[in-house]
Amino acid sequence: MSRSPLLSCEAIGKAYGTRSLFDELSFGLFDGDHVGLVGPNGSGKSTLLRILAGIEPPDRGTRSVRGGVRVPSAGEQARVLIARLMREPADILILDEPTNDLDIPTLEVLEDNLAEFDGGLVLVTHDRFMLERVSTIILALDGRGGAETFADYAQWEAARAPPRPASRDVAARAGARERPCRQRLSSLEQREWDGMEGAILDAETAVEVSRQAAEDPGIAADPAALQTRYAALAAARDLVDRLYVRWAELETKRPSRSPAEE
Ligand SMILES: Nc1ncnc2c1ncn2[C@@H]1O[C@H](COP(=O)(O)OP(=O)(O)OP(=O)(O)O)[C@@H](O)[C@H]1O
Ligand SMILES: [Mg+2]
Repeated sequence: MSRSPLLSCEAIGKAYGTRSLFDELSFGLFDGDHVGLVGPNGSGKSTLLRILAGIEPPDRGTRSVRGGVRVPSAGEQARVLIARLMREPADILILDEPTNDLDIPTLEVLEDNLAEFDGGLVLVTHDRFMLERVSTIILALDGRGGAETFADYAQWEAARAPPRPASRDVAARAGARERPCRQRLSSLEQREWDGMEGAILDAETAVEVSRQAAEDPGIAADPAALQTRYAALAAARDLVDRLYVRWAELETKRPSRSPAEE
């Protein structure tokens, strides 16, 4: 059985002025591939993502795509992204530094959702923990027009020349995230955790039902009924929000798995 890639590039090249970012770059993204795209500042990571997303054409070579590509904007909150991932899965997800300004619980929920995402993912992040946890392969741009793949972040690190100041800065930032000490879930919390996804889906269904009830044309002229139903809608939305916060809390207490155990 032969699989065809969700997204593929054939010998693509891109230069700005005389500076070549990459050249003759070919690869295929298959279901379940999580590509961690790395490279020094200005090496062309964001440019390559824009080309993969179809936002910008390459100078040379071809890109072909099969299936829906989702490129959330920088402003989209992780929680919204998580909810969308659960509800309407895309085939291909392209993320350029999605972790900026996230608190650790939200970040870890995002990380777990990405790790479990079964479509194709191309991710740029300075967060080494996230790269190790989420990516199944590393694609490294060297900033001089070259690109190479590595099995994991450590291999890329080992293969790099002794760090120059700029890349040492990147490594320092990547390692900067201190994780809180994880505890285990109590059995009660474990049960709560196990029911969490179902509880969130139920609560979201309740929001939808309440919304339809509140927008019922039959009560549009009845202020008392409107007030009651909008209050019920607000309560249903509040429950969804509280469940997501609780989910993030429980998530931080779950025992971590190292990337090697994946
Ligand atoms: N539209 C453009 N016109 C001219 N030069 C550009 C354009 N977009 C990017 N560049 C240049 O191309 C190079 C690569 O930029 P890019 O943003 O892709 O790098 P990056 O690897 O994402 O960097 P960072 O790690 O800082 O996010 C940079 O030197 C940048 O100045
Ligand atoms: Mg960039």
